Amino acid sequence: MIDESSVTHVTDTAYWVAHFRAKESQRRTPVFNDSLAALLSGKRGRKIARSIPRASMVEWGMVVRTSAIDRLIHESLQSGVDAVLNLGAGLDTRPYRMNLPAELRWIEVDFPNLIELKNAKLAEHEPVCRLERVGMDLSDRPSRNEVFARIGAASKSVLVITEGVISYFSNSEIANLADDLRAIPSFHRWIQDFDNAPKRRLPSGWAKKLEAAPFLFEVKDWFGFFEKYGWKALETVTTAEESERIGRPYPWDLPYGLLLRALPKEMSRRILGLSGVVMMQR
Ligand SMILES: C[S@@+](CC[C@H](N)C(=O)[O-])C[C@H]1O[C@@H](n2cnc3c(N)ncnc32)[C@H](O)[C@@H]1O
Repeated sequence: MIDESSVTHVTDTAYWVAHFRAKESQRRTPVFNDSLAALLSGKRGRKIARSIPRASMVEWGMVVRTSAIDRLIHESLQSGVDAVLNLGAGLDTRPYRMNLPAELRWIEVDFPNLIELKNAKLAEHEPVCRLERVGMDLSDRPSRNEVFARIGAASKSVLVITEGVISYFSNSEIANLADDLRAIPSFHRWIQDFDNAPKRRLPSGWAKKLEAAPFLFEVKDWFGFFEKYGWKALETVTTAEESERIGRPYPWDLPYGLLLRALPKEMSRRILGLSGVVMMQR
C-alpha cells in the first residue's frame, strides 16, 4: 500500500506547498484566497505537510513567498509582459485566483502526471486568462528548449517563474536552464525564490523525508551565480520585508521562533533578509 504521507517523487512536493495555501485561504483574513488549493492538494497534501517537520515555519514561508510573488507578477504586467511561463507550476492556481488581463497567455509546465491531474480536477473551473499546460520533464533539455522557442516566438515579453523549483536541480542544470532561458530574446524577466544563507542547513528530519526529492542547488552567492548567465536582479523582496508588510511575523516554533524574537530587531531582520524572492532581468 502507498504511504500517502511520504514524498516518493518530486511532484509530491507540489501537494506539500499547496496544502499551506489551502490553509491560508481558510483563515478569516487571508493574505490571498486560493479557493482551489484544497481541491488540488486534498488529503495527500495534508498528510505530507503533517509528516515533514517544522510545518509552521513552512506554512509561514509559503504565505510570505506567495504574497511577494503575486506582487512581483502584478508589477511585471505593468511593464508589458504578454505571457507568463511558470516552470514547475505544481498545483499553483494563479490563473484562476489573480486579477489578470483576459488576453494574457499563461503556460504551466510540470511533469505529465501532475498536469493530467490538474487538467482533470480543474476541468469545471474557468481561468481568468488564456491558460495552457505542458506536461514534460524539464530535465529533458532538447524538448524543453523546443517549448521555450515556441513560446518565445509567439510572445513579445515573457515572464518566467520558478517558484520553489530551483532547489531540486543541480548547479549545472540550473546554469543550463539560465543559459537556455537567456537564449530566447523575448524572455525578459524571471521570478524566483532565493536563499543566500552562507551555509544552507536543512531542518532536522528533512533529508530523510525528502530523499526522493533532495535539495541539490547550492551556491555561496545566489545573485552572482545568475549574473554569470546573463540574469541581473531587478527587484528583490526579502522574507523580512514581506513578512513585515503583511503583518505575519516568524511563527513561534522552537527554538528558532524564540531565538529570532530574542535577537535585536536589526539582527533578526538581517537573518530573514537572506532569503526572499527576486525578479531578475536579462
Ligand atoms: C515545491 S513544488 C512547487 C510547485 C509550485 N511552483 C508552487 O510553488 O506551488 C516543485 C515543483 O517542481 C516540479 N518539478 C521539479 N523538477 C521538475 C522537472 N524535472 N520537470 C518538471 N517539473 C519539475 C515538481 O513536479 C513540483 O511541482
